[in-house]
Amino acid sequence: EQIEKGGYEHFMLKEIFEQPKSVHDTMRGRLIVDEGVIKMAGIWDHIEKFKNANRIIIIACGTSWHAGLIGEYLIEEYARIPVEVEYASEFRYRNPIITDKDVVIAISQSGETADTMAALKLAKERGAFIYGICNVVDSSIARITDAGSYTHAGPEIGVASTKAFTAQLTILSLIALKLGKHNGNLGNAEFMSLIAELDAIPRKIEDVLGTTHELVQNIAKDFVSATNFLYLGRGYNYPAALEGALKLKEISYIHAEGYPAAEMKHGPIALIDENMPIVIIAPKKGHYDKIVSNVQEIKARKGKIIAVVNKGDTQVSAMADYVIEIPETSECFSPIVASVPLQLLAYYIAVYRGANVDQPRNLAKSVTVE
Ligand code: AGP
Repeated sequence: EQIEKGGYEHFMLKEIFEQPKSVHDTMRGRLIVDEGVIKMAGIWDHIEKFKNANRIIIIACGTSWHAGLIGEYLIEEYARIPVEVEYASEFRYRNPIITDKDVVIAISQSGETADTMAALKLAKERGAFIYGICNVVDSSIARITDAGSYTHAGPEIGVASTKAFTAQLTILSLIALKLGKHNGNLGNAEFMSLIAELDAIPRKIEDVLGTTHELVQNIAKDFVSATNFLYLGRGYNYPAALEGALKLKEISYIHAEGYPAAEMKHGPIALIDENMPIVIIAPKKGHYDKIVSNVQEIKARKGKIIAVVNKGDTQVSAMADYVIEIPETSECFSPIVASVPLQLLAYYIAVYRGANVDQPRNLAKSVTVE
């Protein structure tokens, strides 16, 4: 096992550090920047299904569901196809309206999640076209889908999903850009600039790992005794906030909630005092000014602010108690980069609390029961 961990103390840390490679592997052979193309046989062979779809329904659980929410933003923004995102466990029990004009995308790292599998079977019975995004090759979900794309992130051993999540976001980005280019919603210049940005993401993750690892480790020390955490983000980074909170709760057992930052005023703001740590994801691109005013509201209530900002940021940084800088990228890809320090933060808080990071209590890597 020590050899498999490759010198890292836990699989989770190893998998966090593998992300420059895993994201690159997800794009390998698919994103050909010089030629200005995205090659994805699974999409291309069924392009008419996507083109004529009434809507796309994304079905998943947990972290994969968070990836699905970002997929919704991506596909709606670039391909202009309506998207709904559903928890598999709810979908299967609520008699949903599904027709043969619907495309269902199932996202699952393991490809074995019982709820996702059952939801897919239901959608299939009702005539939908089923597309899978799985990490484990030849898994049950991969086998029952009509077509799909593997994420190729490599085996993920830690129960807390890290590299599979960023690989899912990468695949969803490729799908959205490919569909958008094909159906004419995405012009060539914008397409070319977005694919160049996507191609640069592995290097940006590498940069984040190099520049924030020690810093985040130190920040974590101050929160070992925290009992609650709030994670806030807007736009594409709202699901990233949900994912950051899920990482923390599953491995450190600290109660954490993710919220869209603007929802704060509708309830969670009542929780804020000097004992409430708040992680705020505030990259320059994406409602930055709005986030600034959210941070002011938190500051006025003495919340402890841990801000994830772009390099050179001044406004949010001036108000934050802790600042984690990440490189700038397009708003739609920013959750891939912003998730990395949040994974490290959850990891180190859990390690300092003496938790079993790779195998947290009550959790299994693949949930094959209802
Ligand atoms: C992620 O950290 C969790 N362990 C969990 O939420 C997981 O994402 C969920 O069970 C779905 O698993 P899947 O992607 O293998 O279907």
